Amino acid sequence: MSWSLCGIELRTPLVTASGPLGWGKEFFEIFSTRGLGLFIPKTVTLNPKRGNSPPRIEETIGGLINSIGLENEGVYEWLRLEPFYRSLNIPVMASITGSTLDEISKLGEIIDRLDYIVGIELNLSCPNVKGENWSNNPKSIFEATSALRNVYNKIIFVKLAPKDDPLLYIKPAIDGGADGLTLFNTFPAYQSINGGLSGPVIKPIYVRLLKEIVDKVKVPIMASGGVFSTSDVLEYLNLGASAVQIGTAFFKDPDIAEIIYSDLKDLFNLRK
Ligand SMILES: Cc1cc2nc3c(=O)[nH]c(=O)nc-3n(C[C@H](O)[C@H](O)[C@H](O)COP(=O)(O)O)c2cc1C
Repeated sequence: MSWSLCGIELRTPLVTASGPLGWGKEFFEIFSTRGLGLFIPKTVTLNPKRGNSPPRIEETIGGLINSIGLENEGVYEWLRLEPFYRSLNIPVMASITGSTLDEISKLGEIIDRLDYIVGIELNLSCPNVKGENWSNNPKSIFEATSALRNVYNKIIFVKLAPKDDPLLYIKPAIDGGADGLTLFNTFPAYQSINGGLSGPVIKPIYVRLLKEIVDKVKVPIMASGGVFSTSDVLEYLNLGASAVQIGTAFFKDPDIAEIIYSDLKDLFNLRK
């Protein structure tokens, strides 16, 4: 059995959540892609971003707060990873964001030319960057998604923030041209730093939000939030998710996807 995500064939329903594995090179030099169906590197911006000042990571009970602030070396540095992405034996979906519509369009135009990238996850929901968080405003979600849709011809997933009344934010993403949704990014939180909370502590909140909307949303959903075990993956799949992302759990065990995959293989008779 294989899994299809808007026509992208995945050998397993497990996807790396954007961020924890960076752009992937260092991680996959040591650990394998076994268990994974799709790789999504850390969010790329048009220009390099320094990110927030330290401390940027703090453990909480049952989770982690991060305040990285989208640090990255910008798209032109990321493009140099082409040989590495071509050498991976799983598809790669880019994650992008921008602080203006123009930045999003420019990134879309650049990535549209890359035949080794199967789609874009448009990250509209980073809770730890100063300035506008697109996800807070349905009109901004529509505008940002449309700006990308106008220039980008392949698959677009829009990644949204966890919010009450999720349909209010989902509808403009779909109206703007999203083929699928990633639900959700980290939960805004404060312990001794302001940032986004991830890990097992957020999962019950995300399951509640997903339950509200899965029957009403026709596009595929990648679930993200608190996946640490096979039963977490099954819970999201049973709820109706088409694929399930793993993020923070990689910090605990870099082989987490492979471990979960070996359980799923028995259950679903997945291809090797
Ligand atoms: C250290 C760290 C960095 C992250 N960076 C990004 C990012 O660059 N882009 C993004 O869309 N999400 C980012 N996220 C959010 C994750 O992709 C994921 O949506 C979130 O952590 C919830 O899933 P989890 O509980 O499995 O980690 C980051 C999360 C962590 C912990």
